Amino acid sequence: MSDPSADAPAPIPAAAPPPPRKALIGPTYRQFISEVLTKKAARNYLEVGVRAGETVAVAPCPTIGVDPNFVIDRNPVGSKRVLHLYQMTSDEFFRDHDPRAIFGGTVDVAFLDGLHVFEYLLRDFLNTERFCDRNSLILLDDCLPVNIEMTEREHRRELRQDKAIAGWWTGDVWKVVSVLRELRPDLRITPVDVRPTGSIMVSNLDPSSTVLYDRYFEILDKYLPLQLTPELFEAYWKTNRPIQADAITGYFNLSLFARP
Ligand SMILES: C[S@@+](CC[C@H](N)C(=O)[O-])C[C@H]1O[C@@H](n2cnc3c(N)ncnc32)[C@H](O)[C@@H]1O
Repeated sequence: MSDPSADAPAPIPAAAPPPPRKALIGPTYRQFISEVLTKKAARNYLEVGVRAGETVAVAPCPTIGVDPNFVIDRNPVGSKRVLHLYQMTSDEFFRDHDPRAIFGGTVDVAFLDGLHVFEYLLRDFLNTERFCDRNSLILLDDCLPVNIEMTEREHRRELRQDKAIAGWWTGDVWKVVSVLRELRPDLRITPVDVRPTGSIMVSNLDPSSTVLYDRYFEILDKYLPLQLTPELFEAYWKTNRPIQADAITGYFNLSLFARP
């Protein structure tokens, strides 16, 4: 007697479940930046990585935008009186330009959203801080990756398992937050639950600090090889548990104006 199961079609293997994902439920980063600039009555705004100018467009104050490849497809000026656009990498910008000379004062709020690779954001941070004062704010984008696979150093969306968010790419810029926590305990680091991949608000800045500059290569040697494992991912989220955006833009706003 023949085996009746021999002709049965092979079962279709179940698709592998996508890797676990965290949820961020706050406002979008653009709404948050707009609120911060308004609540802080920001004197000026610097954005590294501008692309189409969607976020620059909502800034009401004098603004500098830096991007090696603008794809401006709207009016980026909005209600502001002054907008300076520099089509170059941020490294070139900080090498050749002093934003204090352009603004006539220190940088008040900066949003760092250029190349999503660790050492680039590290340089963008240390270069920006030099032109800030203690009450300035630096916002780091994409430092709360909601899954591990989006932290790859090169965006290969075709290889991603969680197809629904395969277009999201944070790279490994999360390492900058760990570096700041390790080497700059003087900074105030506040993770915020903005969508899609968080915002890290860095305050109590010290433009005279040279720690990151002095130890740059040592930092790279230690952090470049690091990759997020599930355990490290959980530990990172535990250390950087985000607070609600309205705790910054609502009740917490007085600290944004603190003066010595
Ligand atoms: C995610 S997009 C910026 C989006 C924009 N901040 C917004 O909110 O609409 C990243 C941008 O970084 C720019 N970029 C890439 N490398 C850069 C670099 N070395 N310096 C500055 N910007 C860079 C890219 O050209 C791209 O336009």
